[in-house]
Amino acid sequence: MSTRDLGLKPSSSGKVRDLFDLGDRLLIVATDRISAYDVILDDPIPGKGVLLTQMSREWFRLLADVVDNHLLSTDLAELPAPFCDHDALAGRSMLVRKAQRVDAECIVRGYIAGSGWRDYQRNGSICGIRLPAGMRESQKIDPPIFTPSTKAESGHDENIDRAALVELVGVGVADQVERASLEVYTRAADFARQRGIVLADTKFEFGFIEGRLTLIDEVLSPDSSRFWPAESYEVGRSQHAFDKQFVRDWLDESGWDHTPPPPKLPAAVVERTQQRYVEALRRLFPQALETLPAGVAR
Ligand SMILES: Nc1ncnc2c1ncn2[C@@H]1O[C@H](COP(=O)(O)OP(=O)(O)OP(=O)(O)O)[C@@H](O)[C@H]1O
Ligand SMILES: [Mg+2]
Repeated sequence: MSTRDLGLKPSSSGKVRDLFDLGDRLLIVATDRISAYDVILDDPIPGKGVLLTQMSREWFRLLADVVDNHLLSTDLAELPAPFCDHDALAGRSMLVRKAQRVDAECIVRGYIAGSGWRDYQRNGSICGIRLPAGMRESQKIDPPIFTPSTKAESGHDENIDRAALVELVGVGVADQVERASLEVYTRAADFARQRGIVLADTKFEFGFIEGRLTLIDEVLSPDSSRFWPAESYEVGRSQHAFDKQFVRDWLDESGWDHTPPPPKLPAAVVERTQQRYVEALRRLFPQALETLPAGVAR
């Protein structure tokens, strides 16, 4: 599913989402594209965009008492023309209020992994926050820490410390996004943990709408977060990503060097990966599986 195949022209396209600028609103369409090692694979995962859009919607609903969010609707019938006429957009489209974006990625880490683990091994700290000596990979960070990064236009985002964030957005906004990020993460991580998912870390984006701090973009999906299956969590080693385990395992075995073009995924890997997205939604928000558009396997 690409919106271009429907004859629509997105204002911009990210790795997995197509964006339409509607003036004071945006339409964010999640496709079924999947990336691994920062490369978009040629094979889509059927239904992925729908499953992740439903997950985001449920999180926005659950967290609405913690922070305002940009979501207006995920109902096809409530989208403006011509979008409402395309059944292919059902379930995967978010109509949102456009915000004045805060130009930083607001990352919270409750477990030490990925670039955080690499920074810690090198410096004993992440984003200028010193952590206890002797921590092991995937260990819980208690309390969770706020580790912002730049939003690079191209290339990789860069972890920054508190002073660099203040320089970027001002001290008042820095305080606001830090407080909100930690609060939302803590609420979401507790919720997920009770449902068999360790929310190791996550990235939020914020903006301002009519002067109010507002959570924007997608939230708390496996594309913006590290989800680990709680039953196999173990300190002292890297964890399998809940969603991409089969893809990564297979790619690693294929000997691919992480530069395009990626190899073609076998149908069995696509299918098992699709089932992981279903499983993530089933664990967190089982009721959302009942209302998926026709054609999305569950
Ligand atoms: N309510 C909003 N108001 C303004 N901008 C928003 C809002 N919601 C999301 N955005 C922005 O829309 C863009 C969504 O793009 P998307 O994440 O698909 O691509 P990207 O960030 O350019 O690339 P990547 O695929 O690496 O994430 C982001 O730049 C995000 O900051
Ligand atoms: Mg993005």
